[in-house]
Amino acid sequence: RWTVDKTEQSLTTHPHVVQASLWINKNEVVALPTETVYGLAGNARSDEAIARIFEAKGRPSDNPLIVHISDRKQLKGLVSSISPNAEKLMDAFWPGPLTIVLPKGEEVSGKVTAGLSTVAVRMPDHVVALAVIEASGVPLAAPSANLSGKPSPTTADHVYEDLKGRIPGIVDGGSTGVGVESTVVECTEDSVIILRPGGITLEELEKVAGVGNVTVDPGIENEKLAPKSPGMKYTHYAPDAPFVLVDGSPEFLQQLVDKERGAGRKIGILTTEERMDYYKADSVIPAGKRSNPETVAQHLYEALRAFNEAGVDKIFGEVFPKTGVGAAIMNRLEKSAGGHIINE
Ligand code: TXA
Ligand code: MG
Repeated sequence: RWTVDKTEQSLTTHPHVVQASLWINKNEVVALPTETVYGLAGNARSDEAIARIFEAKGRPSDNPLIVHISDRKQLKGLVSSISPNAEKLMDAFWPGPLTIVLPKGEEVSGKVTAGLSTVAVRMPDHVVALAVIEASGVPLAAPSANLSGKPSPTTADHVYEDLKGRIPGIVDGGSTGVGVESTVVECTEDSVIILRPGGITLEELEKVAGVGNVTVDPGIENEKLAPKSPGMKYTHYAPDAPFVLVDGSPEFLQQLVDKERGAGRKIGILTTEERMDYYKADSVIPAGKRSNPETVAQHLYEALRAFNEAGVDKIFGEVFPKTGVGAAIMNRLEKSAGGHIINE
């Protein structure tokens, strides 16, 4: 564990940042903080490093990686062209939680893109991530630093839980800020398509002048269509116990819980601070405040992981409005529950 205080000056020469970059330059992989979740980073130009990323996570090889840059100059060779619309999005949101899918350049190996002709790129808004990229001198391919299928890590402890013994080190920059992953988009001449909802909301994208229509890939919600982003088809973010979403009143949710507990099962409830005192269960865990969805995003994965500690047999969770960051929250919750929702 290489601790880095992100308020320090000249982070690129910080001994722990240098240490991480030395491993990266040996084509090893290290975990590092970003503003969304922790990433498992390796040299995007090295097939050896890419193979290590897939192996450490147990990730299916047909799920492509996001390449992280610290400077737009690094786009040269990485992508073959940048449309005016993509440029507008970079101006508006980089550094930040927006990943843009672009035509792949010569220098990117098909291992990074899982054979696709496009590459996903983003510039993270985290001084430690930017310092490690700069110190390494190469773009970094980095998926979330969890074991495939588990909730993404928002602290170095989460990474340790999943990847201890599998990677040489974790750069510990404290808790991440946003809490859910970046928004992945594809652009056409006159539109932006959201392939994965995330830290930048549809409403924020719509405010960028001249990008045209902003839509959501129908394949995300409709099981009969293939999603444009390969990662969206996998089960994800799953706690150990079966997880069910409840679209209804707190009273209705409590009744479901009482029935299960009556049958001798240990039950968890995923709720918010406003309602946590209302519920009776074996483990009641709040993820932020309902009145402030950004805080729910921030604590969502941490809460899902906490149920594993609690050792419950089943978890019931509340739903959220799908506006703003709520779209990303509900996308993760629905995946986490494997689509299992009970309506009142
Ligand atoms: O916030 C984030 O994006 C974090 C941090 C570490 O940067 N990273 C992350 O990576 O969430 P990962 O690998 O867990 O998710 C990447 C997503 C997957 O759904 C993948 O299928 C999609 O991006 N993706 C990558 N390349 C793509 C491409 N060329 N076309 C479409 N989707 C792509
Ligand atoms: Mg992931």
